[in-house]
Amino acid sequence: MTAVKICLVSSEAVPYAKTGGLADVTAALASFLGSEGQDVRLFLPRYRQLETAGRTLLPVEYLQRLTLTMGGRRFAYSVWTDPGVGDGSHRYFIDCPALFHRKSLYTSDPDEHIRFAFFSRACLECCQRMGWAPDVVHCNDWHTALIPLYLKQHYSWDRLFARTRTLLAIHNIGYQGVFSAKALGDLDLEGSADLLYQEDLAADRINFLKTGLLYANGLSTVSRTYAREIQTSEYGMGLEDLLRTRADSLVGIVNGVDYGEWSPEADARIPHSYSAEDLTGKRQNKQHLLRSLDLPYDEKAPVFGLVSRLTAQKGIDLLFEPLPEMLAWRNVRLVLLGSGEGRYESFFHRLQQTFPEKVCYYRGYSEDLAHLIEAGSDVFLMPSRYEPCGLNQMYSLRYGTVPIVRKTGGLADTVQLFDPASGEGTGFVFDHYSADGVRWALSAALDCWKDQDSWRQLILNGMAKDFSWQVQGQEYLNLYRHLGGR
Ligand code: ADP
Ligand code: GLC
Repeated sequence: MTAVKICLVSSEAVPYAKTGGLADVTAALASFLGSEGQDVRLFLPRYRQLETAGRTLLPVEYLQRLTLTMGGRRFAYSVWTDPGVGDGSHRYFIDCPALFHRKSLYTSDPDEHIRFAFFSRACLECCQRMGWAPDVVHCNDWHTALIPLYLKQHYSWDRLFARTRTLLAIHNIGYQGVFSAKALGDLDLEGSADLLYQEDLAADRINFLKTGLLYANGLSTVSRTYAREIQTSEYGMGLEDLLRTRADSLVGIVNGVDYGEWSPEADARIPHSYSAEDLTGKRQNKQHLLRSLDLPYDEKAPVFGLVSRLTAQKGIDLLFEPLPEMLAWRNVRLVLLGSGEGRYESFFHRLQQTFPEKVCYYRGYSEDLAHLIEAGSDVFLMPSRYEPCGLNQMYSLRYGTVPIVRKTGGLADTVQLFDPASGEGTGFVFDHYSADGVRWALSAALDCWKDQDSWRQLILNGMAKDFSWQVQGQEYLNLYRHLGGR
């Protein structure tokens, strides 16, 4: 079979730029496709904060000193590549310092819409200059969701794209990229106003994601349950009606896990490797984790871990009462990593002050600590209000760290409630978005912990699960082939 040509366009990918799961997923998907012999070219903005993991980026000779005029402004840019990837995928970085040298990847600067519209256009211009006709442009989230419309409005003259189809992957419908309709001029879309939602324009809005959902040939999201949920008013965030009209084009593909990065056998960031056959290293990691955070180690006390962006999505509100109750009465440890909304950060700070012998909160971002928490904890907390897929519950399963999750989105698709009687299941799953749901799950976990044989069965069940890209990547490949008519 001939190689499928995939132009993968994303605002994040590890190791270069990451704020959340999108980065892990994009990079791993590119690697999978590359190693399968597909022609995959991943495009990213060259942010000032770009991490290259020690590798040196090189300028692409024929893609230097380019210009793109958008909204009457002329942007100068060049394109770089990472020659050291070695998995068959190609990585390109759009270098436009005027737009991407900012204090963070995402901003609330007045030109945020221009930054990502420019990025989207620049990727298409690169395809032109490469003389490369992608079968599929795989867009991710609102940042690249204007590509289908741009292809239609600004590039349809170019025969190169005559057979190109678009896929828009929704990683999180909570972020839609909504700007004032006055931005249309900046985006070179004044002439396309009749192709946009008129009610939005009347309300002085343009919605990037919604526009993408209208014009992309195919739509996907990152779990089957989330694909169903976003067609309801409870989860659709205003886009449910549109999604229902496009239900035939929408598929849910659960994210895969890069077990080269995230498994206790291969993880280079944890001090003690281990496996299902020999769990000694897990106990040693637990000791190491607690020691490095100045918490006393007690073999009998389970360690609860949490690593998260601290936003309303993640259900931290549900922990406000159950966690202090558990900490007051039970012999446990709690290790928290994350930053975000002030109310959640203050809650974690207060917990640490009230229970200094039991709780440690690290405010900020740390890859190393995230890995150590996966390896050194006994239980992992993910009480999400909504969760398109979620990666940490799948990482937890592989590390023998029992996930407590709410039954939503990808959490519902990847964690099964443990039944001590049959010995089946992989975690503790609660249905209702309530503090009582969390209370129930915490006490079920603590009860099970008392029976170490049962606990061992539970963690072995989780470690045996396989969410590798070999399975999920194939689903994307089938989807690309279907869209591209190959
Ligand atoms: P989301 O993309 O909604 O944030 P996911 O579960 O898909 O949720 O992915 C989150 C990813 O970001 C995981 O790899 C997790 O380890 C990482 N992460 C989140 N917060 C932090 C943090 N403070 N430090 C290090 N890694 C973090
Ligand atoms: C989003 C979602 C998360 C998902 C990730 C990667 O940020 O919140 O659930 O795993 O994207 O698809």
